[in-house]
Amino acid sequence: MTDLNGKTALVTGSVQGIGLAIAKALAGAGARIAVNGLASPEQAEAACAELRAAGAPEAKFFDADLSDPDRIAAMMQRVADWGGADILVNNAGIQHTAPIATMPRAKWEAILAINLSAAFYTMQAALPAMAQKGYGRVVNIASVHGLVASKDKAPYVAAKFGLVGMSRVAALEYAAAGTKAQGGVTVNCICPGWTETAIIQPQIDARAAALGGDRDAGIAELLSEKQPSLRTSDPSEIGALALWLCAPIAHNVTGTAIPVDGGWTAQ
Ligand SMILES: NC(=O)c1ccc[n+]([C@@H]2O[C@H](COP(=O)([O-])OP(=O)(O)OC[C@H]3O[C@@H](n4cnc5c(N)ncnc54)[C@H](O)[C@@H]3O)[C@@H](O)[C@H]2O)c1
Repeated sequence: MTDLNGKTALVTGSVQGIGLAIAKALAGAGARIAVNGLASPEQAEAACAELRAAGAPEAKFFDADLSDPDRIAAMMQRVADWGGADILVNNAGIQHTAPIATMPRAKWEAILAINLSAAFYTMQAALPAMAQKGYGRVVNIASVHGLVASKDKAPYVAAKFGLVGMSRVAALEYAAAGTKAQGGVTVNCICPGWTETAIIQPQIDARAAALGGDRDAGIAELLSEKQPSLRTSDPSEIGALALWLCAPIAHNVTGTAIPVDGGWTAQ
């Protein structure tokens, strides 16, 4: 069992979906959780309450729209004042599908800002303190689209490939920080395939509509094109892997991009 008592984890986009599932896994191991995401006060408090119920000694919402570097800086300062992040999970992300020829400029800008630049700014703020403590974990939620491309996803694929590359640079820069006993500082990506959350709903809806409104048939068709297991992942499965990466035993696992994709990227 990984023991994260005394550790603080900042999980971006943790009011729902994969982020909330990761936060729950870390909370279950005893971590304090800094929650973030675009949410109403009610949704933010509901997420914090869920995390306290899961075992977090404290869970607090840190409001910040991560498309704005100034708001990221302000959030990181408030998290530092709260004790600082021993664990940083860059999970917040958005998607928009369209061919390059018709991709709106605003979508390109927003996807690069939230899915890539935000992770640079949070790592820049958090990594030096992790190195000083000799323990730190950065878990960046990339995607299979950080490893392979699909059409109609130019900004998303560009951002996720960028996130995988940037994580490798950070892993190298901090590889020698800390000792085995302290746990060291590692930086890794998790690369999910189809995982059942709100972000894939528009793509499921489009397929279902083309199949007479049959949601299950829509999901089956999406899986059959890319994910050989023909099974979606549950967000809690991503949470379990993120928790393992935070354990001291994973001190030499750094600079990796681990697919959870039913064989998608093995093809
Ligand atoms: N679901 C999948 O199939 C899948 C596959 C591969 C990768 N991912 C990645 O997993 C991550 C989580 O996505 P999800 O599937 O849980 O989707 P989701 O839509 O349920 O969650 C996205 C989260 O990001 C937050 N967010 C979005 N814009 C933000 C902003 N400007 N500032 C702060 N927070 C913001 C939202 O509040 C939300 O909590 C994303 O990075 C996504 O690219 C998802």
